[in-house]
Amino acid sequence: MNSIVRRIDEGLRQGVAVDDFRGAMRDLAGGVSVVTVGRGDEISGMTVTSVSSLSVEPATLIVSINRQASSWPLLKKHGVFGVNVLSIEHRDVAERFSGAGGLSGAERFAGAEWVNLVSGVPLLAGALVAFDCEVEHVVERHSHAIVIGRVLDLRISTGAPALVYWQRQYLALDHDRDSSTRSETGLPTPKALWQI
Ligand SMILES: Cc1cc2nc3c(=O)[nH]c(=O)nc-3n(C[C@H](O)[C@H](O)[C@H](O)COP(=O)(O)O)c2cc1C
Repeated sequence: MNSIVRRIDEGLRQGVAVDDFRGAMRDLAGGVSVVTVGRGDEISGMTVTSVSSLSVEPATLIVSINRQASSWPLLKKHGVFGVNVLSIEHRDVAERFSGAGGLSGAERFAGAEWVNLVSGVPLLAGALVAFDCEVEHVVERHSHAIVIGRVLDLRISTGAPALVYWQRQYLALDHDRDSSTRSETGLPTPKALWQI
């Protein structure tokens, strides 16, 4: 894989303070997903906001994963993962998979329904969208790894409002589902963003 690393004069490479960067990133609203890894009893997963599409043809996406996370070794071992895009019905799922409450591995999956598609990785039955992915490439950089996933299959479920994370809060994002109020562009009119 080609990569371009810009060499910056050490004198100019002051960087920004960790707290400044962390605080700034809180302004970046992100859709909340759970990345699931492993198969059978050897499963785990983690809450993420770093999912983004890479290309449509072929269907690929990227997610950045902390290499200290318990999901990382399983992702590398099995070479597959799921991306489960959460709705507001899954706030509790988001919290369990963020490690809150001290649950780990298969314990995080309790209380929700999971299905398999092609790869065998567990996918959340009611997710807004569940992407079944095969690892295509990994770039290990600093504390994290950028994982490129080839989408093998996907499953679309409900039209529930999306779960969004912004300024350290979970928010619900919905639009007006009444087609008569669609804007001139034909796109749905954002209706509400509220804290849950
Ligand atoms: C809203 C939210 C978004 C997160 N996004 C990411 C992410 O994109 N990448 C990541 O590595 N960790 C992310 N995390 C942290 C992981 O969910 C958390 O570190 C992990 O589940 C706990 O690791 P463990 O499995 O080792 O307990 C996020 C946490 C929250 C609450």
